Amino acid sequence: MPPRRATHRYFACPPTFYDVTYAINPWMDPSVPVDRDLAWRQWTRVVARMDELGARLHFIAPKAGCPDMVFLGDAGILCGSRFLCSRFRFPEREPESAHYLESFLTVGQEVITLPEGAVLEGLGDVCVQGERAILGYGPRSNAAGFAALGRFAPFLRVIAEVELPDPRFYHLATAVVFLDDDTVMYAPQGLTPAGVAAIRAAVPRTIAASDHDVFAHQACNCIVLGKHVLIDGYSQQLQAELGELGFTVEAFPASELKKGGGSVRCLVLPEIGPS
Ligand code: ARG
Repeated sequence: MPPRRATHRYFACPPTFYDVTYAINPWMDPSVPVDRDLAWRQWTRVVARMDELGARLHFIAPKAGCPDMVFLGDAGILCGSRFLCSRFRFPEREPESAHYLESFLTVGQEVITLPEGAVLEGLGDVCVQGERAILGYGPRSNAAGFAALGRFAPFLRVIAEVELPDPRFYHLATAVVFLDDDTVMYAPQGLTPAGVAAIRAAVPRTIAASDHDVFAHQACNCIVLGKHVLIDGYSQQLQAELGELGFTVEAFPASELKKGGGSVRCLVLPEIGPS
């Protein structure tokens, strides 16, 4: 089945210079080697499958010295002809911003930058479904960043704002995902009780991912295309729960990417906004 909104574009960046050379989240350990050939194959399988499923993919050129660029979902917020360029919390990822600015200008986007002091790590800390958004307050994006997002995309209606108290869930994209308009899957391990309550109040249906699915597979960091869920891996229980809702889970092992702290969803930057 083709994706629900095949008119929307997705951007990705090949893992040419991908590596774990610093540690800015607890998943990263520079002393553990990354198999870069395997990372390539893992990334390629994901984008090839997305292409097969009808996603309109575009690519940004990688840049040496930016080992986290493969996680293009953090690059900014893309909406129609405009791109709100991310500003990162840590200096390690700062050089990416200038490259995104230039790259998105080159592909014809109008590029908007964040005001001084605002931090926004793209879709890392924002979950968008149509006109609805969930915001994540953790170690990365800040209130000034979200305020800039509100000005950039005034059509967005924030239905929940949650805290991310556990550093393993340093981005909202590691803890929350819309499966469809009515359904959110979340990692209770990475949220506060108030955050869980806010999400449950905001959508009709929620699925709490198990410890295994969250810690072994970063289950909430999955890509949803129509009824297809591309995910690092899954328990039988998760497969059954999603199956009952009509979703097919497809395993895309992302061992090398998880060494950087991300899984499949961080690899792509989907356009947001009205089709
Ligand atoms: N190493 C990257 C970082 O810590 C991984 C980012 C993955 N992206 C994500 N949305 N979780 O920033």
